[in-house]
Amino acid sequence: MRLPRGSVLVVASHNPGKVREIKALLGPHGIEPVSAASLNLPEPEETGLTFLANAELKARAAADASHHPALADDSGLWVNALNGDPGIYSARWAGPTKDFRIAMARIEKELREKSATDFSAKFVCALSIALPHGEIKSFEGEVHGKLTFPPRGVQGFGYDPIFIPDGWDQTFGEIDPQVKNDMSHRAIAFTRLLHSGIFAESL
Ligand code: IMP
Repeated sequence: MRLPRGSVLVVASHNPGKVREIKALLGPHGIEPVSAASLNLPEPEETGLTFLANAELKARAAADASHHPALADDSGLWVNALNGDPGIYSARWAGPTKDFRIAMARIEKELREKSATDFSAKFVCALSIALPHGEIKSFEGEVHGKLTFPPRGVQGFGYDPIFIPDGWDQTFGEIDPQVKNDMSHRAIAFTRLLHSGIFAESL
């Protein structure tokens, strides 16, 4: 798979923050990112049972509907002592009001109920790029660490305030967002995508 300079790439996310981040990453590669929202593409239901399956079904749906190559990602927090929960349900654990204090409190409660001593966890990001009715390629990135309670820090989003990456004393909620973005699961998956040679060389 190779996307020549000037190719349109549909970013299959309805999250404006994510679209902005992906556009910035693709800018130097001569790619023309277009958001799925601006094309009025429907958001498919995330019925996959893995991050990869969900990223692939979102990329596939956007590519086939738009007739352009499409890029999608799926990410979340994997807690080892909870057998991988909240995992692909990371966004859903925050409920309809998207309140991550509720989701973080649920993780703490479930760990306490199990008398868990293993607080290890990882953030995972799967990225998929699909050609219309054609090839699909996927890349994964992970950042390992441990959970801490109560939540600390106001930076970042989602589960950042309870996650301490390996080698650090601060949570992602306390670490400078620029530093987090350079070491995150999303950054690792993107680096793998960029190194795969799918895009033209940087300008
Ligand atoms: P989705 O990839 O849009 O389905 O959502 C993934 C969910 O995982 C987000 O709503 C967050 O709750 C969580 N998540 C993914 N990446 C991060 C991160 O870098 N920090 C904190 N939470 C994250």
